[in-house]
Amino acid sequence: MSAIEPPLALLAELTHRCPLRCPYCSNPVELARARDELATAEWARVFQEAAALGCLQVHLSGGEPTVRRDIVEITAAAREAGLYTNLITAGVLLEAPLLARLVEAGLDHVQLSVQDADEAGAERIGGLRGAQERKRRAAALVREMGLPLTLNAVVHRQNLHNLPQLIAIALDWGAQRLEVAHVQYYGWALANRDALLPTRAQLDEATGLVEAARQAHRGRLVIDYVVPDYHAARPKACMGGWGRRFLAVSPMGEVLPCHAAKSIAGMVFPNIRDTSLEAAWTGSDAFNAFRGTAWMAPPCRGCAHAERDWGGCRCQAFALTGDAAATDPACALSRDHGLLAAAVAEAGETRFRYREFS
Ligand code: SF4
Ligand code: FES
Repeated sequence: MSAIEPPLALLAELTHRCPLRCPYCSNPVELARARDELATAEWARVFQEAAALGCLQVHLSGGEPTVRRDIVEITAAAREAGLYTNLITAGVLLEAPLLARLVEAGLDHVQLSVQDADEAGAERIGGLRGAQERKRRAAALVREMGLPLTLNAVVHRQNLHNLPQLIAIALDWGAQRLEVAHVQYYGWALANRDALLPTRAQLDEATGLVEAARQAHRGRLVIDYVVPDYHAARPKACMGGWGRRFLAVSPMGEVLPCHAAKSIAGMVFPNIRDTSLEAAWTGSDAFNAFRGTAWMAPPCRGCAHAERDWGGCRCQAFALTGDAAATDPACALSRDHGLLAAAVAEAGETRFRYREFS
Protein backbone atom coordinates (compact mmCIF):
# COMPACT_ATOMS: atom_id res chain seq x y z
CA MET A 1 0.00 0.00 0.00
CA SER A 2 1.27 3.52 -0.76
CA ALA A 3 1.88 5.97 2.11
CA ILE A 4 -1.27 6.85 4.03
CA GLU A 5 -2.14 10.49 3.53
CA PRO A 6 -3.48 12.60 6.40
CA PRO A 7 -7.21 13.26 6.81
CA LEU A 8 -8.45 16.74 5.95
CA ALA A 9 -11.63 16.88 7.98
CA LEU A 10 -12.98 15.47 11.22
CA LEU A 11 -16.67 15.00 11.87
CA ALA A 12 -17.15 15.25 15.63
CA GLU A 13 -20.50 13.71 16.47
CA LEU A 14 -20.83 15.24 19.91
CA THR A 15 -24.15 13.62 20.75
CA HIS A 16 -27.05 11.71 19.25
CA ARG A 17 -29.55 13.75 21.27
CA CYS A 18 -31.67 16.10 19.16
CA PRO A 19 -34.99 17.92 19.53
CA LEU A 20 -35.84 16.99 15.93
CA ARG A 21 -36.73 13.50 14.68
CA CYS A 22 -35.95 13.62 10.96
CA PRO A 23 -36.79 10.32 9.26
CA TYR A 24 -33.59 10.46 7.14
CA CYS A 25 -31.17 11.10 10.00
CA SER A 26 -27.72 9.67 9.27
CA ASN A 27 -27.27 8.63 12.92
CA PRO A 28 -27.36 4.89 13.56
CA VAL A 29 -30.72 3.33 14.33
CA GLU A 30 -29.36 2.50 17.80
CA LEU A 31 -28.64 5.91 19.30
CA ALA A 32 -26.02 6.63 21.98
CA ARG A 33 -27.24 7.72 25.44
CA ALA A 34 -25.99 10.93 27.08
CA ARG A 35 -24.23 9.04 29.88
CA ASP A 36 -21.96 7.29 27.31
CA GLU A 37 -20.84 10.46 25.51
CA LEU A 38 -17.21 11.61 25.49
CA ALA A 39 -16.40 14.29 28.07
CA THR A 40 -15.11 17.78 27.22
CA ALA A 41 -11.49 16.84 27.95
CA GLU A 42 -11.75 13.77 25.74
CA TRP A 43 -12.99 15.89 22.84
CA ALA A 44 -10.16 18.37 23.45
CA ARG A 45 -7.70 15.49 23.13
CA VAL A 46 -9.38 14.32 19.91
CA PHE A 47 -9.03 17.82 18.42
CA GLN A 48 -5.35 18.10 19.38
CA GLU A 49 -4.64 14.70 17.86
CA ALA A 50 -6.67 15.48 14.73
CA ALA A 51 -4.71 18.68 14.14
CA ALA A 52 -1.41 16.86 14.72
CA LEU A 53 -2.50 14.26 12.19
CA GLY A 54 -3.11 16.95 9.55
CA CYS A 55 -6.83 17.74 9.84
CA LEU A 56 -7.66 21.32 8.91
CA GLN A 57 -11.28 21.51 9.93
CA VAL A 58 -13.77 20.03 12.32
CA HIS A 59 -17.49 19.76 11.85
CA LEU A 60 -19.21 19.92 15.24
CA SER A 61 -22.24 17.81 14.67
CA GLY A 62 -24.70 15.34 16.20
CA GLY A 63 -27.61 14.82 16.75
CA GLU A 64 -27.84 18.43 17.73
CA PRO A 65 -24.46 19.65 19.04
CA THR A 66 -25.94 22.59 20.96
CA VAL A 67 -27.74 20.24 23.39
CA ARG A 68 -24.30 19.70 24.95
CA ARG A 69 -23.93 22.01 27.93
CA ASP A 70 -20.19 22.24 27.17
CA ILE A 71 -20.60 23.21 23.49
CA VAL A 72 -18.78 26.51 24.09
CA GLU A 73 -15.82 24.77 25.79
CA ILE A 74 -15.75 22.15 23.03
CA THR A 75 -15.71 24.88 20.36
CA ALA A 76 -12.92 26.70 22.18
CA ALA A 77 -10.92 23.45 22.38
CA ALA A 78 -11.30 22.90 18.63
CA ARG A 79 -10.16 26.43 17.92
CA GLU A 80 -7.25 26.09 20.35
CA ALA A 81 -6.15 23.02 18.42
CA GLY A 82 -6.00 25.25 15.31
CA LEU A 83 -8.98 23.72 13.52
CA TYR A 84 -11.48 25.64 11.38
CA THR A 85 -14.74 25.07 13.25
CA ASN A 86 -18.06 24.51 11.55
CA LEU A 87 -21.21 24.06 13.64
CA ILE A 88 -23.75 21.76 11.97
CA THR A 89 -27.02 22.58 13.67
CA ALA A 90 -30.79 22.42 13.40
CA GLY A 91 -30.73 25.94 14.87
CA VAL A 92 -33.74 25.55 17.15
CA LEU A 93 -31.64 26.03 20.32
CA LEU A 94 -29.38 28.72 18.91
CA GLU A 95 -30.35 31.78 20.94
CA ALA A 96 -28.36 35.05 20.85
CA PRO A 97 -26.40 34.61 24.15
CA LEU A 98 -25.22 31.12 23.17
CA LEU A 99 -24.23 32.17 19.67
CA ALA A 100 -22.31 35.17 21.05
CA ARG A 101 -20.35 32.84 23.35
CA LEU A 102 -19.65 30.46 20.48
CA VAL A 103 -18.36 33.32 18.34
CA GLU A 104 -16.14 34.43 21.22
CA ALA A 105 -14.88 30.84 21.54
CA GLY A 106 -13.75 30.97 17.92
CA LEU A 107 -16.58 29.48 15.88
CA ASP A 108 -15.88 30.07 12.17
CA HIS A 109 -18.99 28.92 10.31
CA VAL A 110 -22.56 27.72 10.77
CA GLN A 111 -24.36 25.13 8.68
CA LEU A 112 -28.08 25.25 9.36
CA SER A 113 -30.49 22.50 8.33
CA VAL A 114 -33.91 23.23 6.89
CA GLN A 115 -36.44 20.41 6.45
CA ASP A 116 -38.86 22.06 4.00
CA ALA A 117 -39.83 25.48 2.71
CA ASP A 118 -43.32 25.65 4.16
CA GLU A 119 -43.83 25.61 7.87
CA ALA A 120 -46.27 22.71 8.03
CA GLY A 121 -44.04 20.51 5.86
CA ALA A 122 -40.94 21.41 7.86
CA GLU A 123 -42.67 20.62 11.12
CA ARG A 124 -44.03 17.33 9.84
CA ILE A 125 -40.64 16.16 8.52
CA GLY A 126 -38.60 17.31 11.52
CA GLY A 127 -41.27 16.32 14.03
CA LEU A 128 -40.97 19.57 16.01
CA ARG A 129 -43.62 22.26 16.22
CA GLY A 130 -42.40 25.84 15.75
CA ALA A 131 -39.04 24.75 14.34
CA GLN A 132 -39.13 26.82 11.13
CA GLU A 133 -39.51 30.18 12.87
CA ARG A 134 -36.72 29.34 15.31
CA LYS A 135 -34.48 28.42 12.38
CA ARG A 136 -35.25 31.67 10.61
CA ARG A 137 -34.30 33.59 13.76
CA ALA A 138 -31.11 31.54 14.13
CA ALA A 139 -30.13 32.35 10.54
CA ALA A 140 -30.65 36.06 11.19
CA LEU A 141 -28.50 35.89 14.33
CA VAL A 142 -25.70 34.11 12.50
CA ARG A 143 -25.64 36.83 9.84
CA GLU A 144 -25.89 39.62 12.44
CA MET A 145 -22.86 38.21 14.22
CA GLY A 146 -20.92 38.19 10.98
CA LEU A 147 -20.51 34.44 10.50
CA PRO A 148 -20.80 32.79 7.10
CA LEU A 149 -23.95 30.70 6.76
CA THR A 150 -24.63 27.56 4.78
CA LEU A 151 -28.16 26.22 4.51
CA ASN A 152 -28.46 22.46 4.22
CA ALA A 153 -31.67 21.21 2.63
CA VAL A 154 -32.06 17.46 2.53
CA VAL A 155 -34.47 16.75 -0.33
CA HIS A 156 -36.65 13.75 -1.09
CA ARG A 157 -39.96 12.58 -2.50
CA GLN A 158 -42.00 14.58 0.02
CA ASN A 159 -40.39 18.03 -0.24
CA LEU A 160 -38.87 18.25 -3.74
CA HIS A 161 -41.95 20.09 -5.00
CA ASN A 162 -40.79 22.98 -2.78
CA LEU A 163 -37.24 23.22 -4.14
CA PRO A 164 -37.76 26.69 -5.72
CA GLN A 165 -39.00 27.96 -2.35
CA LEU A 166 -36.03 26.36 -0.55
CA ILE A 167 -33.71 28.27 -2.86
CA ALA A 168 -35.69 31.44 -2.14
CA ILE A 169 -35.31 30.84 1.61
CA ALA A 170 -31.53 30.49 1.25
CA LEU A 171 -31.43 33.90 -0.46
CA ASP A 172 -33.87 35.47 1.97
CA TRP A 173 -32.06 34.20 5.08
CA GLY A 174 -28.69 35.46 3.79
CA ALA A 175 -26.92 32.15 3.21
CA GLN A 176 -23.82 32.27 1.02
CA ARG A 177 -24.08 28.57 0.25
CA LEU A 178 -26.96 26.14 -0.16
CA GLU A 179 -26.49 22.40 -0.08
CA VAL A 180 -29.28 20.61 -1.90
CA ALA A 181 -28.59 17.08 -0.74
CA HIS A 182 -30.71 14.18 -1.84
CA VAL A 183 -31.16 11.63 0.95
CA GLN A 184 -28.53 8.89 1.14
CA TYR A 185 -29.95 5.57 2.24
CA TYR A 186 -28.46 4.12 5.41
CA GLY A 187 -29.45 4.45 9.08
CA TRP A 188 -32.91 5.98 9.54
CA ALA A 189 -33.19 6.89 5.87
CA LEU A 190 -32.99 3.23 4.87
CA ALA A 191 -35.82 2.46 7.29
CA ASN A 192 -37.85 5.20 5.52
CA ARG A 193 -36.69 4.53 1.97
CA ASP A 194 -40.17 3.87 0.57
CA ALA A 195 -41.34 7.27 1.81
CA LEU A 196 -38.26 9.22 0.69
CA LEU A 197 -37.05 7.92 -2.68
CA PRO A 198 -37.84 10.43 -5.44
CA THR A 199 -39.13 9.47 -8.87
CA ARG A 200 -36.90 9.93 -11.90
CA ALA A 201 -39.12 12.81 -13.03
CA GLN A 202 -38.69 14.55 -9.64
CA LEU A 203 -34.93 14.13 -9.85
CA ASP A 204 -34.70 15.48 -13.41
CA GLU A 205 -36.82 18.49 -12.53
CA ALA A 206 -34.69 19.20 -9.43
CA THR A 207 -31.47 18.94 -11.41
CA GLY A 208 -32.79 21.44 -13.96
CA LEU A 209 -33.91 23.82 -11.22
CA VAL A 210 -30.52 23.69 -9.50
CA GLU A 211 -28.71 24.39 -12.75
CA ALA A 212 -30.96 27.36 -13.53
CA ALA A 213 -30.62 28.74 -9.98
CA ARG A 214 -26.83 28.47 -10.12
CA GLN A 215 -26.86 30.68 -13.21
CA ALA A 216 -29.45 33.11 -11.85
CA HIS A 217 -27.71 33.64 -8.49
CA ARG A 218 -24.05 33.40 -9.53
CA GLY A 219 -21.88 35.54 -7.26
CA ARG A 220 -24.55 35.63 -4.54
CA LEU A 221 -25.35 32.01 -3.69
CA VAL A 222 -23.25 28.90 -4.27
CA ILE A 223 -25.37 25.77 -4.66
CA ASP A 224 -23.89 22.35 -3.95
CA TYR A 225 -25.88 19.43 -5.28
CA VAL A 226 -25.69 15.86 -4.01
CA VAL A 227 -27.58 13.50 -6.31
CA PRO A 228 -29.29 10.29 -5.21
CA ASP A 229 -27.47 7.09 -6.07
CA TYR A 230 -30.68 5.23 -6.80
CA HIS A 231 -31.01 6.84 -10.22
CA ALA A 232 -27.29 6.76 -11.06
CA ALA A 233 -25.19 4.61 -13.37
CA ARG A 234 -21.95 5.30 -11.51
CA PRO A 235 -21.50 5.61 -7.75
CA LYS A 236 -20.18 8.64 -5.94
CA ALA A 237 -16.68 8.56 -4.44
CA CYS A 238 -18.18 8.25 -0.99
CA MET A 239 -16.13 10.17 1.61
CA GLY A 240 -13.61 10.73 -1.20
CA GLY A 241 -12.63 7.09 -0.66
CA TRP A 242 -12.61 5.07 2.58
CA GLY A 243 -9.81 6.24 4.89
CA ARG A 244 -8.47 8.82 2.44
CA ARG A 245 -9.64 12.28 3.49
CA PHE A 246 -12.14 12.00 6.28
CA LEU A 247 -12.76 10.51 9.68
CA ALA A 248 -15.57 10.70 12.20
CA VAL A 249 -15.66 10.21 15.94
CA SER A 250 -18.97 9.00 17.38
CA PRO A 251 -20.47 10.32 20.64
CA MET A 252 -19.02 7.29 22.47
CA GLY A 253 -15.56 7.70 20.96
CA GLU A 254 -15.58 5.20 18.11
CA VAL A 255 -13.30 6.34 15.29
CA LEU A 256 -15.12 5.78 12.01
CA PRO A 257 -14.14 6.07 8.33
CA CYS A 258 -17.57 7.56 7.68
CA HIS A 259 -20.52 8.69 9.78
CA ALA A 260 -22.60 5.65 8.74
CA ALA A 261 -19.88 3.01 9.09
CA LYS A 262 -21.48 1.53 12.19
CA SER A 263 -24.28 0.28 9.98
CA ILE A 264 -21.82 -2.34 8.68
CA ALA A 265 -22.62 -5.23 11.01
CA GLY A 266 -19.65 -7.17 12.35
CA MET A 267 -17.09 -4.44 11.71
CA VAL A 268 -15.10 -3.46 14.81
CA PHE A 269 -13.97 0.14 15.18
CA PRO A 270 -11.16 1.53 17.36
CA ASN A 271 -12.20 3.75 20.26
CA ILE A 272 -10.47 6.96 21.21
CA ARG A 273 -10.73 5.85 24.86
CA ASP A 274 -8.31 2.97 24.11
CA THR A 275 -6.11 4.30 21.33
CA SER A 276 -4.77 7.40 19.63
CA LEU A 277 -6.41 8.97 16.60
CA GLU A 278 -3.24 8.36 14.61
CA ALA A 279 -3.20 4.64 15.46
CA ALA A 280 -6.86 4.41 14.46
CA TRP A 281 -6.26 6.25 11.17
CA THR A 282 -3.10 4.47 10.07
CA GLY A 283 -3.11 1.09 11.78
CA SER A 284 -6.63 -0.12 12.47
CA ASP A 285 -8.24 -2.97 10.56
CA ALA A 286 -11.39 -0.91 10.08
CA PHE A 287 -9.61 1.93 8.23
CA ASN A 288 -7.36 -0.38 6.25
CA ALA A 289 -10.15 -2.77 5.21
CA PHE A 290 -11.27 -0.68 2.20
CA ARG A 291 -8.45 1.81 1.79
CA GLY A 292 -7.04 2.16 -1.73
CA THR A 293 -7.89 -0.44 -4.37
CA ALA A 294 -6.16 -3.66 -3.24
CA TRP A 295 -9.33 -4.96 -1.52
CA MET A 296 -11.42 -4.73 -4.68
CA ALA A 297 -12.75 -7.70 -6.63
CA PRO A 298 -14.09 -7.54 -10.20
CA PRO A 299 -15.69 -5.51 -11.71
CA CYS A 300 -13.95 -2.79 -9.64
CA ARG A 301 -10.55 -4.47 -9.80
CA GLY A 302 -8.82 -3.14 -12.91
CA CYS A 303 -11.68 -0.75 -13.70
CA ALA A 304 -10.62 2.63 -15.11
CA HIS A 305 -12.81 4.38 -12.51
CA ALA A 306 -11.36 2.57 -9.48
CA GLU A 307 -9.20 5.51 -8.35
CA ARG A 308 -11.96 8.00 -9.08
CA ASP A 309 -14.96 6.54 -7.24
CA TRP A 310 -13.04 4.08 -5.04
CA GLY A 311 -15.74 1.48 -5.64
CA GLY A 312 -18.50 3.74 -4.33
CA CYS A 313 -20.02 3.52 -0.88
CA ARG A 314 -19.19 0.67 1.52
CA CYS A 315 -22.21 1.35 3.71
CA GLN A 316 -24.56 1.25 0.73
CA ALA A 317 -22.93 -1.95 -0.56
CA PHE A 318 -23.50 -3.56 2.83
CA ALA A 319 -27.04 -2.21 3.20
CA LEU A 320 -28.13 -3.57 -0.15
CA THR A 321 -26.10 -6.77 -0.54
CA GLY A 322 -25.00 -7.72 2.98
CA ASP A 323 -21.37 -7.58 1.79
CA ALA A 324 -19.41 -4.39 2.53
CA ALA A 325 -16.71 -5.46 0.03
CA ALA A 326 -19.18 -5.74 -2.87
CA THR A 327 -19.23 -3.24 -5.71
CA ASP A 328 -21.67 -0.48 -4.82
CA PRO A 329 -24.97 -1.41 -6.51
CA ALA A 330 -25.19 2.21 -7.71
CA CYS A 331 -22.69 1.14 -10.36
CA ALA A 332 -24.28 -0.18 -13.56
CA LEU A 333 -21.49 -2.78 -13.70
CA SER A 334 -22.57 -4.28 -10.36
CA ARG A 335 -24.54 -7.50 -10.62
CA ASP A 336 -26.84 -6.00 -7.95
CA HIS A 337 -27.62 -2.80 -9.87
CA GLY A 338 -31.21 -3.93 -10.45
CA LEU A 339 -31.91 -3.63 -6.71
CA LEU A 340 -31.99 0.14 -7.03
CA ALA A 341 -34.58 0.28 -9.80
CA ALA A 342 -36.68 -2.24 -7.88
CA ALA A 343 -36.57 -0.03 -4.77
CA VAL A 344 -37.59 3.03 -6.81
CA ALA A 345 -40.49 1.08 -8.31
CA GLU A 346 -41.70 0.05 -4.84
CA ALA A 347 -41.49 3.54 -3.28
CA GLY A 348 -44.62 5.56 -2.54
CA GLU A 349 -45.23 5.25 1.19
CA THR A 350 -46.34 8.56 2.70
CA ARG A 351 -45.91 7.89 6.44
CA PHE A 352 -42.56 8.28 8.18
CA ARG A 353 -40.96 6.18 10.84
CA TYR A 354 -39.52 8.90 13.08
CA ARG A 355 -36.08 8.77 14.64
CA GLU A 356 -36.27 8.03 18.36
CA PHE A 357 -34.37 6.34 21.16
CA SER A 358 -35.43 2.70 21.41
FE1 SF4 B 1 -16.47 2.29 -9.88
FE2 SF4 B 1 -16.24 -0.31 -9.41
FE3 SF4 B 1 -18.18 0.56 -10.98
FE4 SF4 B 1 -15.63 0.68 -11.84
S1 SF4 B 1 -16.84 -1.16 -11.41
S2 SF4 B 1 -17.18 2.28 -12.03
S3 SF4 B 1 -14.57 1.13 -9.88
S4 SF4 B 1 -17.91 1.00 -8.77
FE1 FES C 1 -20.18 4.97 4.65
FE2 FES C 1 -20.47 5.72 2.09
S1 FES C 1 -21.69 6.27 3.81
S2 FES C 1 -18.81 4.64 2.99
